[in-house]
Amino acid sequence: MDDPIALECKAITKRFDSLTAVNQLSFSVQEKDVFALIGPNGAGKSTLMKMLTTLMPPTEGDALINQVSILKNPAKVREIIGYVPQLISADGSLTGYENLLLFAKLYRIPKNEREKRIQESLETMGLSTVAHRYVNEYSGGMIRRLEIILAMLHKPRVLFLDEPTSGLDPVARKAVWDHLELIQKRDGVTIILTTHDMLEADYLCNKVAIMLKGKIVQMGTAKALKSALGENATLNDVFIQYAGNSIEADHAYKEIASRRRTEGERGS
Ligand SMILES: Nc1ncnc2c1ncn2[C@@H]1O[C@H](COP(=O)(O)OP(=O)(O)OP(=O)(O)O)[C@@H](O)[C@H]1O
Ligand SMILES: [Mg+2]
Repeated sequence: MDDPIALECKAITKRFDSLTAVNQLSFSVQEKDVFALIGPNGAGKSTLMKMLTTLMPPTEGDALINQVSILKNPAKVREIIGYVPQLISADGSLTGYENLLLFAKLYRIPKNEREKRIQESLETMGLSTVAHRYVNEYSGGMIRRLEIILAMLHKPRVLFLDEPTSGLDPVARKAVWDHLELIQKRDGVTIILTTHDMLEADYLCNKVAIMLKGKIVQMGTAKALKSALGENATLNDVFIQYAGNSIEADHAYKEIASRRRTEGERGS
C-alpha cells in the first residue's frame, strides 16, 4: 500500500498584481518521498515553497501538510516542517553553536535535551570543529550544512529545501545528499526540494515535477520522464524539452542526442 500523503496542494495560487506566479496547483507528495521541483528561473518554485512553509499567504487555494491546513493552522504546520530558504538564513554575527541554540529555544526544545541535540547534529554534518567560529567566517558549503541542521533540529516530518546545494563543491554537495538520504531512510522524513542540478534530482529524488510559468507540466519518476523522451535521454534533456519553446526544445534535444552519438562513435 502507498504511504500516506505528506503534502496535498489544492488549487494553490499566488498572484503578484498581474503576474500569476503559482497557478492553481493541485498535486500530492507521499510520505517519505524525496520530491524535486525543477523548472527555469521565475517558474514559481520559491513562491510555492514560501506558501507551503506559511511565510506567504496564498491568493487562493490551500495545502495540507500531514493533513494540517496551511490556512487554518499555520502554527501547527510550522511545528511539523523544516525549511531551508534559497537565500542564506543563518545569522553571520553568531557562531554555528549560537545559531543552533537560538533555534533550539525558538522551537522550545526542552532545556535538558538542547545540548545533546545540538552536539549530535553538529557531528552528523561534520561541523563540530567549527561550532564556535562565527558563521560569517564559514565557507558557503559550511553555511548550507549548518542551515540544514538548523531546519532539522526540531525533528520535522516534512523538510523543504530551496536549492540546498547551489554553489557547493562536489564533496560538500555529496555530504548534503548523504545527510538527506540518512534522514529520509532512518527517520522517514519527507523531503521536498527545488534544484537546478539535474544530477541531484536524478540521484536523490524518487519523484520529479517540472514547473513552468506557475504550473506543473509534468511529474513522475526521473526514469519515466527520461524514457518518455527517448533512449539515452538525460534529465537535462527532459528539462530542455519542457522548459524551452516546445519546437525549439525538440530541435535542441535531437541536436544534442545526435551530437552525443557522434561523439560516442568518435570515442570521446
Ligand atoms: N514578492 C514578490 N513580488 C512580486 N513578484 C514576485 C515576488 N516574489 C516572486 N515574484 C515573481 O514571481 C515569479 C516566480 O518567482 P520565484 O522566485 O518563485 O521563481 P523560482 O522558480 O524560484 O526561480 P529561481 O529558479 O530563479 O529561484 C517571478 O516572476 C518573480 O519575479
Ligand atoms: Mg527560487
